[in-house]
Amino acid sequence: MQFLLTPFTIFNFISILTLIVEPLHTSATCRGFCGNIPIRYPFGVDDGCGAPQYRHMFNCTNDLFFLTPSGSYKVQSIDYNKKTMVVYDPAMSTCSILQPHHDFIMTDIQSAMMPPSPDTVFALLNCSIDSPVLNHYKNLCFNISDHSCDELYGACNAFRVFHLLSNSSPPCCFTNYDTVKYMSMNILDCTHYTSVINTDSLKGIGPLDWVYGIKLSYSLPDTGCQRCSLSGGTCGFDTETEGMTCLCSSTMNATRQCAPGSFTDGGVVHTPWTVFHVVLLVLGIFLDLIIS
Ligand SMILES: *[C@@H]1O[C@H](CO)[C@@H](O)[C@H](O)[C@H]1NC(C)=O
Ligand SMILES: *[C@@H]1O[C@H](CO)[C@@H](O)[C@H](O)[C@H]1NC(C)=O
Ligand SMILES: *[C@@H]1O[C@H](CO)[C@@H](O)[C@H](O)[C@H]1NC(C)=O
Ligand SMILES: *[C@@H]1O[C@H](CO)[C@@H](O)[C@H](O)[C@H]1NC(C)=O
Repeated sequence: MQFLLTPFTIFNFISILTLIVEPLHTSATCRGFCGNIPIRYPFGVDDGCGAPQYRHMFNCTNDLFFLTPSGSYKVQSIDYNKKTMVVYDPAMSTCSILQPHHDFIMTDIQSAMMPPSPDTVFALLNCSIDSPVLNHYKNLCFNISDHSCDELYGACNAFRVFHLLSNSSPPCCFTNYDTVKYMSMNILDCTHYTSVINTDSLKGIGPLDWVYGIKLSYSLPDTGCQRCSLSGGTCGFDTETEGMTCLCSSTMNATRQCAPGSFTDGGVVHTPWTVFHVVLLVLGIFLDLIIS
């Protein structure tokens, strides 16, 4: 009888109860992770989760991919405080690999909602002397933190070939996203490009150590998500009307916020808590055995 009365047994009883009860009221409607990337508002990998403005832009097949008309780009990281996302184009040239050019194209909504950040710079390489950026649009080119684009030809194994073939450095240009947004690589008349992030802090750092990729700077649509999250809900939208919905549980959605006492959706919280309960349970049984 003493066995039944230990505090740990009562603890276990509660743990078992929550384990049984909880799944009835939670659902994994909105996944909180894709691979090792946390998924939070305004993003969603399940339809109806996040903000409708970012709908159909992501694909979670093991890893998180950002989908644009020019391809799927692997998401390297998301900084929810700075509101930035770093994506990587596997088909892009970098300091260590030379690959055929292919344009980076975003939809109009993507360009408006998450344009590349000002500290993402595109390096146009092996341009012809007729390139618009060497003539009429010369002023679109600049140097970054005292580095000229010529430096890439000497410092990078991948780009040394341009130098070797012509025995001189072919024209190049560091420029912003807007340039490649309005002019395709064919119009720009450059055979290759790469892009570098965090260009504000490259003083004294050589091209071998730069970070190649594209940093997107996203904005949060003002849909009243805060009120929903504060009430314990997950922000989502109606897949037909695209109107905002506050997901409270698998059986209850609210327009703005979850009613007090309604069970919150555990898309993010569910898994860690269930694991936590199992750990408590095992720990409790273990302690029971020691004590009895
Ligand atoms: C998701 O991205 C992967 C990797 O690029 C691709 O193979 C797959 O076809 C994509 N799925 C959808 C539904 O777009
Ligand atoms: C560099 O550009 C020229 C044309 O301007 C082209 O003929 C040459 O193949 C390019 N070099 C490489 C390595 O692609
Ligand atoms: C960039 O730097 C190079 C070499 O230091 C210099 O010749 C060139 O004029 C600079 N270009 C711009 C646009 O400042
Ligand atoms: C709540 O909203 C989500 C996302 O739109 C939807 O998938 C789900 O069926 C809705 N649930 C209820 C009970 O209406």
